[in-house]
Amino acid sequence: MVFLNGKFIAKNQAFVPVMDRGFLFGDGVYEVIPVYNRKLFRLDAHLNRLQESLNSVAIKSPYNVNEWLEIINQIVSYSEHDNQSIYLQITRGSGTKRAHTYNELNPNIYIESNPLHPRSQKEASEGFSAITREDIRWGRCDIKSTSLLANILYTQQAKQHSAEEAILIKNNKVTEGATSNVFLITGGTLYTHPTGTEILSGITRDLILESANSCDIIIKENAFTIDDMLSGDEVWISSSTREVIPITKVDHNLINNGEVGEHWKRVYKHYHKLTN
Ligand code: PDD
Repeated sequence: MVFLNGKFIAKNQAFVPVMDRGFLFGDGVYEVIPVYNRKLFRLDAHLNRLQESLNSVAIKSPYNVNEWLEIINQIVSYSEHDNQSIYLQITRGSGTKRAHTYNELNPNIYIESNPLHPRSQKEASEGFSAITREDIRWGRCDIKSTSLLANILYTQQAKQHSAEEAILIKNNKVTEGATSNVFLITGGTLYTHPTGTEILSGITRDLILESANSCDIIIKENAFTIDDMLSGDEVWISSSTREVIPITKVDHNLINNGEVGEHWKRVYKHYHKLTN
């Protein structure tokens, strides 16, 4: 079962008009909310970010917090899985002809649930590889917009290189991954790009900083260069669906001789305390 514009229906019965501006222009925003043991994880943070995305693109929120809660919980209840990933998107709505400008429209709202299968600790402990790419995205990466063409191209290139992620570089600084935030541990200090318009402010990023703080790791929300990363001790990526996983190879360079680091193990453990 999925939710579409006020109704819970079978996914193969869910259709939107071709005039939907999400279909025509990618004119919409989205959220991905993890669910552990049938409980929405950090729902407030996700709904706050959704509201910020909606404000940034001038789409009026179709529901209040309690209404969202009721709808999303219903979607959670329809799934047979205890751990889920909720995908929620709101587009500006459907006009009558394709035009860049718009009048007042009713947003199209779609929600589905997928099983959440992050890597097990054993799988993650093997480490993953990443490629680097120049970050050519637009200047509002803080908006969780469905317009994801650049991210799609990067992710497909990562797949073609059998890599877990594409790490993006702007003006010689690591911004984030194509679908994740990026962290560097060097000399016992954790570095990650500051929030702002150049990255998506990940909810998992906040949780990793919270976990690192609890593990007495010094945190510096400062951007780091590609050379810093290659000579660093540990590189991690984080997202709601992948949690926090170690990157041990970037392009052709091994990080920490290809070994997963001790800081990751501690932070991973702490993160799992939060999700349980
Ligand atoms: N992506 N940066 C980008 C560009 C992302 O697409 C994501 C997540 C993140 C991490 O955000 P969070 O920790 O709130 O999941 C950072 C989601 C999972 C997606 O697009 O499916």
